Amino acid sequence: MAFGPARLATLCIALTVAVLGADKAGWLRDKPQPPAPPPVAARPAPAPAALAPAAREPTASAGAVPPGYVRDSADVPANLPEGPDREEIFWFCTACHSSDLVRRQGLTRERWDELLTWMTDRHGMAPLEGTERDKYLDYLSQALPPRRQRGFTNPFLNRE
Ligand code: HEC
Repeated sequence: MAFGPARLATLCIALTVAVLGADKAGWLRDKPQPPAPPPVAARPAPAPAALAPAAREPTASAGAVPPGYVRDSADVPANLPEGPDREEIFWFCTACHSSDLVRRQGLTRERWDELLTWMTDRHGMAPLEGTERDKYLDYLSQALPPRRQRGFTNPFLNRE
């Protein structure tokens, strides 16, 4: 079909309508800016308890308990699934956080391995190496495998 004057006119009108519409909607004008936040000094400092553990002071020595952490005396080894070395692993891991955090995870051995590395690199966990690391990975991968293998399938997740 030829691109005649009639088509050109229609196109121009359509364009004009679109521009006027956008202008009326305010899309072409500067949006009002939100008020500037108060200067940092004026803001109250957050209570230490409100800070995420990762945001607190970095732990100086490997395996140091994050400042402010109070062990929950109600958290006991039985809160982790049964398995060899559960007791030792419980005390090691709950030096820094509740066993809840561990129990909520379900990972393959490979992903647990990555998580231990992350815990050491990022959160100052004492490095686990050699047979010691194997022992932890044996327990974690058997006691807390991916949920799919524990009879639960999350229909919204397609990764393990
Ligand atoms: C030196 C302290 C420390 C030790 C020891 C430690 N963790 Fe952690 N772990 C952390 C911190 C800090 C976080 C982040 C907590 C948060 O995000 O609230 C974390 C988070 C986690 C998470 C949650 C990860 C996620 O994706 O949200 C899991 C699972 C976990 N740890 C497992 C373990 C296991 C298993 C052990 C024992 C082998 C262990 N941790 C020992 C400091 C530690």
